[in-house]
Amino acid sequence: MSLPQAPLLQVPLLQVRGLARSYYGVHALRGVDLSVLAGRITGLIGPNGAGKTTLFNCISGLVRPDAGSVMFDGTAITGWRADRVTRAGLVRTFQIARGFPRMSVLDNLMLYGAAQPGERVWPALLRSGTARRREASLRQQAEHIAERLRLTRVLHAPAAALSGGQKKLLEIGRALMAHPRLLLLDEPVAGVNPTLAREIGEHLRALVADGISVLLIEHHMDTIAALCDPVIVMAEGRHLREGSFAEVAADPLVQEAYMGRRR
Ligand SMILES: Nc1ncnc2c1ncn2[C@@H]1O[C@H](COP(=O)(O)OP(=O)(O)O)[C@@H](O)[C@H]1O
Ligand SMILES: [Mg+2]
Repeated sequence: MSLPQAPLLQVPLLQVRGLARSYYGVHALRGVDLSVLAGRITGLIGPNGAGKTTLFNCISGLVRPDAGSVMFDGTAITGWRADRVTRAGLVRTFQIARGFPRMSVLDNLMLYGAAQPGERVWPALLRSGTARRREASLRQQAEHIAERLRLTRVLHAPAAALSGGQKKLLEIGRALMAHPRLLLLDEPVAGVNPTLAREIGEHLRALVADGISVLLIEHHMDTIAALCDPVIVMAEGRHLREGSFAEVAADPLVQEAYMGRRR
């Protein structure tokens, strides 16, 4: 006999409460409260200087918040070091792509995988059988991710030779090497042409279908409108509004935040 299905009460995958951070008296975050549910792409928008990147920095352990808490999948991760946060399955990308321009796409991916926590003894194991097996498994993972992101044809090209869009994909690929459950993406389509922006969007949808949740900072509103629900709007270091893209775009407070204060 099957029981009637109770409505699923979804516990947020990420829960941020009262997060605050100042830089020399500049309040980048003034007590941010927000939740991110699993299984979707949540958008994070707001004018320049709203605190979006600082929020990512505080969540991902790059910067220590002055106050507030971060819960990831029920665990308090506030103040954890970045490598520990990554190991927990919360992985971020950077607005400016990182990595090594002269190294190949494959090596960039493998190196990021090898740099993951738990691999601290890696150099000591060079040339050992364990290292060879580890290398083979990293290579397989990297090839699989490259295939998934359609980077196979440029696998052996130096990262510097990639197009802007491919560089963005490589940045996402590096994050995937860490086996994320939640990806924090900082402007993954900025500066990319519309066709590639749509293609990156399709990749993000495919990641969600594979069980990876996404929190997406992006200024490219077509991408936000096409991919994200809900959309969270930040302004002046706070959570300002949240809803569907249509709802927040029509909100006078949101429009005012984007126009700047008129005094
Ligand atoms: N490392 C830092 N040092 C000093 N000020 C910073 C630093 N990082 C961010 N800020 C300031 O915090 C505010 C929020 O910046 P940021 O988080 O980059 O906003 P966004 O990503 O929404 O554009 C800005 O006023 C910015 O100048
Ligand atoms: Mg930013």
